[in-house]
Amino acid sequence: MFKGRDVISILDFTKEDLITLFKEAREMEKYAKSRINILQGKVLALAFFEPSTRTMFSFQTAMLRLGGSVLVFSEVEKTSIAKGENLGDTIRMLDSYANAIVIRHRIEGAASYAAEIAESPVINAGDGTHHHPTQAMIDYYTIWREKGGIEGLTLGVLGDLKYGRAASSFILASTIFKPKKLYLISPQELRVKPEIREFLEEHNVKYVETQNLKEVLGGLDVLYVTRIQRERFPDLAEYEKVKGSYRVTSNILKYAKEDLMILHPLPRVEEISFDVDVTRYAYYFKQASYGVPVRMALLKLILSGD
Ligand code: NCD
Repeated sequence: MFKGRDVISILDFTKEDLITLFKEAREMEKYAKSRINILQGKVLALAFFEPSTRTMFSFQTAMLRLGGSVLVFSEVEKTSIAKGENLGDTIRMLDSYANAIVIRHRIEGAASYAAEIAESPVINAGDGTHHHPTQAMIDYYTIWREKGGIEGLTLGVLGDLKYGRAASSFILASTIFKPKKLYLISPQELRVKPEIREFLEEHNVKYVETQNLKEVLGGLDVLYVTRIQRERFPDLAEYEKVKGSYRVTSNILKYAKEDLMILHPLPRVEEISFDVDVTRYAYYFKQASYGVPVRMALLKLILSGD
């Protein structure tokens, strides 16, 4: 089911695949702070051409907890890329050293390009504004784990739905899990891409676009908050216009359901105020901690196959 597979988009997976992954992740939680020697002798290359904290460290932690080893680069200026080496050559080389490659790159399609070149499985850890499949796995795992399932829930996604790849993958995954309803909450300028809207329509996901969080908050079971992706704006003046246009505070949460779950892929900038962290709604640090067991499960399934 998973063995030897590339992970480019969350849409590469069926619901059955993802539930298998979640059950495996549930098992891996037992070892997330210790070790289980399943991938001894295997090497994972982590090629991060863009900044990362959680994604890189949780992949690294996951591989080490499984008894494997990692090759990491995140400072591109210290590799031969600074000498002008092209992506294809870098991938060819990593492919010859490692059993699987995790790649994050600013160019959309970089991971699928790497997957064409490499024989080893390639895992997309973010390609520009496009996809972030393993983040979506963690996001839906958190919901599945904490709420017992996804069907019947009303989900809201707040923020930069235009440039945010974590938001895009989360929204695309709604076609797999089919929540009761999906609210896409964003300033007009940061609306979800037209091709994603069309995709939702083709897959009969019931979605509503709005700019007003307060109006819809009371109906939500899950609120997925994202930051404005400042670095992806072609024109910074455009960013200045939307900067600070939404913020979740403990004050607005008086309109929330008792058991609302707030998620965020992190890093948080100013879109969730710190006073929310201590409320019962805040699940984003727990969600980040699930990054390790979910990535352990994924690596186990891809590299060991049982
Ligand atoms: C996200 C990313 O890199 O797209 N971060 C992450 O992997 N948790 C979200 C973001 O940077 O806003």
